[in-house]
Formats: sequence, C-alpha cells, structure tokens
Amino acid sequence: MALPWFSEGRFPLFLAPMAGFTDKAFRQLCKEQGADVMVTEFVMANRFLDERSQNDAWKTVDFTPEQRPMGVQIFGSDPEKMAEAARRIVDRLQPDFIDLNYGCPAQKIVDNCAGSSLLRDLPLLGRVTAKVVERVGEDCPVTAKMRIGWDAESIVADEAAKVLEEAGVQALAVHGRTKEQGYRGDANWDIIEGVAEVVSIPVVGNGSADSVERIRAIRERGKVAGIMIGRAALGYPWLFREFKAALEGGPIPPSPDLTERMAVMLRYCRELNAHKHEDGPWGYLNWMRARLKSFTKIMPGCRSLRTRIDKVESYEELEALAEAYLAEQAAIKASEDLAEQRL
Ligand SMILES: Cc1cc2nc3c(=O)[nH]c(=O)nc-3n(C[C@H](O)[C@H](O)[C@H](O)COP(=O)(O)O)c2cc1C
Repeated sequence: MALPWFSEGRFPLFLAPMAGFTDKAFRQLCKEQGADVMVTEFVMANRFLDERSQNDAWKTVDFTPEQRPMGVQIFGSDPEKMAEAARRIVDRLQPDFIDLNYGCPAQKIVDNCAGSSLLRDLPLLGRVTAKVVERVGEDCPVTAKMRIGWDAESIVADEAAKVLEEAGVQALAVHGRTKEQGYRGDANWDIIEGVAEVVSIPVVGNGSADSVERIRAIRERGKVAGIMIGRAALGYPWLFREFKAALEGGPIPPSPDLTERMAVMLRYCRELNAHKHEDGPWGYLNWMRARLKSFTKIMPGCRSLRTRIDKVESYEELEALAEAYLAEQAAIKASEDLAEQRL
C-alpha cells in the first residue's frame, strides 16, 4: 500500500533527523508549524538488544501520537541485529515506518561498517534492508535515507536506490552529498532528481533546501515526491509554515517577532528539560546551551546574546536574560524610530 503521506497529490515536507537536535521537544515545535513527516534521531540497532543501553535507546525514539506520521531510524550493518531491533521497535511503538540510515558520515559509525559505509558494499546494503523488510514489512513500512555515494569518484546513487527498491523499501530519502563532503557545499539536486527517475518508489530530496526560492524551484521541476529540511530548521521551526505557504502559492507569513521567538525558545527549554533530563533540572546545562544558541540565529545582537546564554546557570536566569534582551531591543528600536522621525 502506498504511504499515505505521498498520496493524492500531497507533497510532504519532512523534518530531517538530526541527532542531538531533533528530539521530541523540538519535533513538537516543527509539527505545530507544519512539518508533515518526521523521523527520530538515529539509534544503533544493537542498543535495542542490549539490556544496559535499552533504556536510553527507547528514550531517544520516543514520540507523541500527535507527531505522527513518525519514523524510527536505526543504523547498523548486521542484518539479523537490524531486523531484530526493527521488530522490537514495531512491536513496542508501532511507528508509521522504520527508516534505515545509510548516510551517516561520522568516523565511529563508518568504522563500524554502518551508515554511509554501506554505500561501498551494495550487496550488504541489500541484505540488511531485505532482512529488515522480511522481519517487519508486513506490519510496518520500511524506508531508507542515503547519501549519493562515498566520494565524488564513487557516486552510486542510482545503483543503491535500485538495490533498496528491490529489497523492499517503500520510500527513499536522498541526501545529495557524498560521505566525503560531510555537510559542506551545496547538495547535488541533479543526482537526487536522477534517482527519482530510475526507481518507482517515492524519492524525498534532502540537502540545502533552505530558502523559499529553492523549495519552489524543486516543486516546479516536479521530480521528487517531497522535501526533507535539515539545518535550516534548527532553531527556526517557523520555516515549515513559510515553506508550506510558498508551496501553496500564498503569501509568506511574516517571521515571528522577537517576543514570539523568545517565548518559543523558553518553552522548548522547559519541554526539553521535562522530556530528557529526569536526573535533575539543568543537569545537562552545557548540552542545552548549544541547542538554545540555534534559536538566536538572525536575531539582532546574536553574538552577544550567545555569549550571555553561555553564562546562564538556571532556567530562571534564562527567563531573566530573555526579558532583559527584549527590553534592550525594544529600547534600540524606539531610539531608531525616533531618529528616523527627526530626519
Ligand atoms: C547535527 C546533525 C545530526 C544529524 N543526525 C542525523 C541522523 O541522526 N540521521 C540521519 O539520517 N541524518 C542525520 N543528519 C543529516 C541530516 O538529516 C541531513 O541529511 C543533512 O543535514 C543535510 O540536510 P541540510 O543540508 O538541509 O542540513 C544529521 C545532520 C546534522 C547537522
């Protein structure tokens, strides 16, 4: 059966999985702003099978019913372990799909022959995928997310996509960079769109989809079945409502004002704390600061605001900082308005 989020002319916007950032709290913000489909951060398949790491693994892939359609993403290279992890996830969470990661470029992942390293071994890529499909495919669709190849000399996007289709995946997200590129440079949409022409499953394009103009152009070319948005959405969930409006041909809603942005940042912080940090409020303060900083991009005085966030020691201090910052910005605006009137 076709995946419903692609049916009837729908053109879904996906939030890309981004480990350490697209947690349950952040996904909620994106959902409210119009993200259609979301995927959990990736988790190593073995972690669902090991007594000691299971708890953390289950926490990472937790989601709320309103975040559906949700995929749970796993990585690994052992067909049996991947299939068993997928089975346990399907039995326990009934996600809308299981997503297999064939794109991660991180050294410790590729050293384990997982993530993007499977692009150098297409027979193994096929075996892992087919095993997962065999184990859960009747109860839960399986999809995959891959890069276009290991490096510029070994672009295997078309071949890998055919292997994955043959193995039974029902949709494919293609990140248009090689492993060697990491996250640098523009994604290659010619290759992404080429993949959409050689397979008959829906292909979702990913990489550098960071402006209204790009989103509209991709849609107009009409090759891919949806777009997956990564870093451009970090700290800026409102991107989804802007991109949705762009695709619908309507006016682009204005960016949220600073008060709204601060309010959402504080809410994110409270929810993150509630979901993730049971071992005491602000137990992960340093970790949290990095996430908060992503919310300050394109805010006036972003640099000094980030420096001040670095010094915050509690939620109350963060609230006080937000209030002080808004008051300062209001004063700057008032004096600019006054100067303009005098001209
Ligand atoms: C911090 C970070 C973490 C990521 N974690 C994952 C992950 O867990 N699973 C995955 O498939 N891709 C992961 N990615 C890759 C993104 O999903 C996406 O493919 C990539 O950022 C390209 O999209 P963009 O150019 O829109 O950012 C991660 C990227 C970043 C920057």
